[in-house]
Amino acid sequence: MKLTTWAGGLAAGWLDERLPRRWTHVQGVREQLRVTDRLFSTDEADLLAAAGFLHDIGYAPELAATGLHALDGARYLREVEAPERLCALVAHHSAAHLEAELRGLADELGDWADERTPLRDALWWADMTTSPDGEVVTFDERAKEIQQRYGPDDIVSTFMQVARPELAGAVDRTEARLRAAGIDYV
Ligand SMILES: [Fe+2]
Repeated sequence: MKLTTWAGGLAAGWLDERLPRRWTHVQGVREQLRVTDRLFSTDEADLLAAAGFLHDIGYAPELAATGLHALDGARYLREVEAPERLCALVAHHSAAHLEAELRGLADELGDWADERTPLRDALWWADMTTSPDGEVVTFDERAKEIQQRYGPDDIVSTFMQVARPELAGAVDRTEARLRAAGIDYV
């Protein structure tokens, strides 16, 4: 079975009834990642699509233990013996290390390394250009919406301010790679 098929079933099981809006976002991220397929080998595109499905699994109420969804998701995936690289992609998606610092969880997240590759950039790009309702949006729209949704006093809003340059870097690099490959994106 392809990793993507397994990941999609797992993510649906944890999110579709418990957190339907999050599940809609996750499916949007997976769709957005299709745009990047040609940048990667078949196996890497499969891994990336699986990460797209699973990146927010740590929001599932039964899995949310630390308050850092990237860490909770990676820990759960390690438990179910997901490939280590997939766990690491989830652990570090969308600059999670900066939120980990704000929450005092940097050591815990340090169980995994951020691979800092075009594939990892593509995951961040898809997450940062997909709205909570699964629509394709610009990074600026996405960042603004997150800050509005959480409000100025929430740690997530502080995180967005701190993380913006790193997130923008991953978005810009991915879009440059797509342009270089002659691939249209929104
Ligand atoms: Fe996400």
